[in-house]
Amino acid sequence: MKELMIKPSIYKYGTAKEFAEEFKLGKGDLVITNEYIYNPYFGELNLGCDTIFQEKYGAGEPSDDMLEAIYKDVKGEHKRIVAIGGGTVIDISKIFALKYVSPILDLYDGKKPIEKDKELVIVPTTCGTGSEVTNIAILALNSRGTKKGLASDEMYADSAVLVPELLEGLPFPVFATSSIDALVHAVESSLSPKGNEMTRLFGYKAMEMILKGYKKIVAEGRDARIPLLPDFLTASTFAGIAFGNAGCAAVHALSYPLGGKYHVPHGESNYAMFTGVLKNYMEIKSDGEIAKLNQFIADILEVPVENVYDALEALLNNLIQKKPLHEYGVTQQDLEEFTESVMVNQGRLMANNFVELDKERVYKIYRELY
Ligand SMILES: NC(=O)c1ccc[n+]([C@@H]2O[C@H](COP(=O)([O-])OP(=O)(O)OC[C@H]3O[C@@H](n4cnc5c(N)ncnc54)[C@H](O)[C@@H]3O)[C@@H](O)[C@H]2O)c1
Ligand SMILES: [Fe+2]
Repeated sequence: MKELMIKPSIYKYGTAKEFAEEFKLGKGDLVITNEYIYNPYFGELNLGCDTIFQEKYGAGEPSDDMLEAIYKDVKGEHKRIVAIGGGTVIDISKIFALKYVSPILDLYDGKKPIEKDKELVIVPTTCGTGSEVTNIAILALNSRGTKKGLASDEMYADSAVLVPELLEGLPFPVFATSSIDALVHAVESSLSPKGNEMTRLFGYKAMEMILKGYKKIVAEGRDARIPLLPDFLTASTFAGIAFGNAGCAAVHALSYPLGGKYHVPHGESNYAMFTGVLKNYMEIKSDGEIAKLNQFIADILEVPVENVYDALEALLNNLIQKKPLHEYGVTQQDLEEFTESVMVNQGRLMANNFVELDKERVYKIYRELY
């Protein structure tokens, strides 16, 4: 049985300039990025690469429509795709490294083969998705009202490049939601039946780095995150390695309809489901990996294990306030539709749950979080 796969070579550089020089960025490269990230760090280097600024194609997380609009604008031949951005930019870039890009729904429906065509370099500028080391691209399929992951080893990056300097301008709310996403990756993959001692090595280390970082930020103020950015970026990659191998599960599955319909940022919609799912796992089975996980987190938070989820939520509420689902505009009617959507569309994730969650249980979780 395969224990662990880390496909990209992982690099770390002190500055963006160093990265650009080492990777000889220039003609023949298509850089997919945001103008407000690219210009301050790469603009003056006059690299001569072609650039696509993702924000010109719509706000929010990546969608089939955004991808098709970018596709129409890409001109010229490129041998490398260089993604410099958050999960949105990265997931779009993974598709642009393929041979068939459009119509994108054909790829998601399995009508076109997923074949790699170009070298792919990924430089994350948030500390959350871990997408630089995973083989998944997640898009909102607007025509279908949900988010869906496309996974194939053809979509692994060749190089994942960590440049903590690029995160210095990351607004605090994005820092918060993206790092909570990484925390959820670490927790879900560690509880997954596909987890093993190698994936958990990365998963538990990521949890420790993120939670200790949060404690410091809560104690010392938001600016305390700046010297911790290298740690948060590394933790996000660790969590990516963990879930790239062991999978995410119900927290992500239940969050997708909320993110898809009400455009809640990915990390925030995960947080809305996070402890609700964990508490339901505990109702079904409170021993095994979940008992270890709870103790591990309780030790870091210095609380009795019985209070671990409340303490975790109290800590995270300092970063973003957890909201009941109705505050996002969710209706009672939605809860039934969300449940249906999870059971029909999110089988890939639901297969990784710590214990099986049936339709009744998913509906119960949504009602409790409403
Ligand atoms: N493929 C995977 O393995 C995987 C895993 C988890 C999440 N995702 C996907 O990732 C997306 C979320 O990604 P995200 O949390 O990184 O957010 P994001 O990429 O949507 O970025 C959020 C906002 O922050 C801005 N931003 C990003 N980096 C910045 C920086 N350094 N300075 C200033 N502004 C910056 C972006 O332009 C955007 O406006 C979701 O679509 C989610 O589905 C993918
Ligand atoms: Fe995620």
